Amino acid sequence: MAIIMDGIELRNRILNDLQIRTENMAIKPKLIAILVGDDMASKIYVRNKEKYASVAGIETQIIRMPNETDTKTIVEKIHELNSDKSVSGILVQLPLPKHIDTHVVLNAVDVNKDVDGFTDANVGKMYGAGKEFITPCTPRGILALLNAYDIDIAGKNAVVIGRSNIVGKPMAQMLMMQNATVTICHSKTKNISDFTRKADIVIAATGKIKITGDMLKTGCVLIDVGMQRDEKGKLCGDADFDSCSQVAGFITPVPGGVGPMTIAGLMMNLVDLAQ
Ligand code: GUN
Repeated sequence: MAIIMDGIELRNRILNDLQIRTENMAIKPKLIAILVGDDMASKIYVRNKEKYASVAGIETQIIRMPNETDTKTIVEKIHELNSDKSVSGILVQLPLPKHIDTHVVLNAVDVNKDVDGFTDANVGKMYGAGKEFITPCTPRGILALLNAYDIDIAGKNAVVIGRSNIVGKPMAQMLMMQNATVTICHSKTKNISDFTRKADIVIAATGKIKITGDMLKTGCVLIDVGMQRDEKGKLCGDADFDSCSQVAGFITPVPGGVGPMTIAGLMMNLVDLAQ
């Protein structure tokens, strides 16, 4: 039976540590979250970010814009926030409504306030030889969780399932930076089990491909980034928890695993930027 990795407990510990750091800062760190439209999930995520920021001694301001807002208006708002010295970090909650050019909006954020690490300038540093860069919140939180459970990464076979800019791609890069041998699988990969059965660490982040116990190597670490509702309306991840927890050595629950660690990753990024 796998050890269940407790993201809530670790998030709380990280927020307490951050609170001690922010208490001693001359200027209180400030996070701006831009929320465009009325996507229900995004509203909940942003409200959660605000709630846990305050635990870490971070002030938050949510800027809400109607669904009809155009790209130019959002970009102008971001430019204004870029030059506001009281703002430490700017987050644009994704997904944006379809008519908005997400790439243009994300790249309007000053790289020094890019708390998500989504600007081309920041991404370029992470994939190139840049020294100081922000690592996206979910992968940063996942690495903190692996670290808290003393899981070695160097030399391990890691399989990342999913290739999004938010999780899959940065996760693969960050695991490689820690000397893992990384394979990226996705919706077009044939016979995913051929890869996952050899993996010491599996990061499941598609929201589509279901992971079952028979796909895993005994004793592996399974990190479940998925967040859906099953046919009974209950929150679940990409993994079939019952079968996977019989085979894996470590597993993250949904909820209570990666979700809280994403919040912790965001707050660590913000305090780093503020300092
Ligand atoms: N939507 C889903 N995940 C994220 C994230 O990490 N950051 C932002 N800004 N939006 C998201």
